[in-house]
Amino acid sequence: MRRKVVIDCDPGQDDAVALLLAFGEAERLDLRAITVVAGNVPLAWTTTNARRVATLGGCTDVPIYAGCGRPLVNPLVTAEHVHGDSGLDGADLPPATVDLSPGHAVDRIIELAHAEDGLALCATGPLTNVAMALVKDPSIAPKLSRIVLMGGAIGHGNVTPSAEFNIYVDPHAARVVFESGVPIVMLGLDVTEQVRPTAERRARIREIGGEVGPIVADLLSFYAERAADGGALHDPVAVGYLLEPELFTGRDCFVEIVTEGPCAGRTVVDWRGRTGRPPNARVIDTVDDEAFFSLLVESLARVG
Ligand code: BDR
Ligand code: CA
Repeated sequence: MRRKVVIDCDPGQDDAVALLLAFGEAERLDLRAITVVAGNVPLAWTTTNARRVATLGGCTDVPIYAGCGRPLVNPLVTAEHVHGDSGLDGADLPPATVDLSPGHAVDRIIELAHAEDGLALCATGPLTNVAMALVKDPSIAPKLSRIVLMGGAIGHGNVTPSAEFNIYVDPHAARVVFESGVPIVMLGLDVTEQVRPTAERRARIREIGGEVGPIVADLLSFYAERAADGGALHDPVAVGYLLEPELFTGRDCFVEIVTEGPCAGRTVVDWRGRTGRPPNARVIDTVDDEAFFSLLVESLARVG
């Protein structure tokens, strides 16, 4: 059975690869919409980038909606130092021929949650759109099958010692999401940093050929050189979880989001159950990284 999903993203090279992975898995994933949020770069760029990636992937039948241009409370923090000014620096993608669909991402998430039984959200950017949907219409919470998100960390952060980028950019949104009661799967830095696009792996991707192989290899080379963590494949790992959860291990935990102060954006993961509070997320800490990477290469080879 094809799993119905909306990908909410802020492309970004790794978001781009996550989208391409989903396009290559159309037999297993029923991608109902791509919703876009500000994050790695401002919304004007993330929406353009989503359209460019859809064009590259030959994905003309999945609507793309623009969402929130800033976090709920804090000013927007972006990451051009990692992703470049466009957010997709490093390769020449074809110009976008796929248009944005009319309407706001938040409204479309709400409509789809009501219309599609068992819809999952896969969030690979700040959680602003997802939180806004849950605030605007809390009745969607019991309708969503789950929210699979790339964000947070059990251990170290990547923006501050405490915080991972997606949660750091909009911690208030993350708090709304983690307190929503929707089943959450959290893929934080602990697991995503286990999948690195090494030079050998980028060569494997380049060998796929066509338009997609060299472009993805170039995007990942740019990103791997700039990112402090070697350009881990953060966002594709979240899509990988939707496809093959058996490649991952984790624990059900209570996770609290810190919204203020020097640890703002921290996901406090009660890994050992010290608080006695009921779990609100499945927190993933390992992945079979070679199996995941092979899945990614096979999927990318089907795109275009
Ligand atoms: C996350 O932040 C962004 O830079 C990446 O696209 C990823 O979603 C990693 O911390
Ligand atoms: Ca992202």
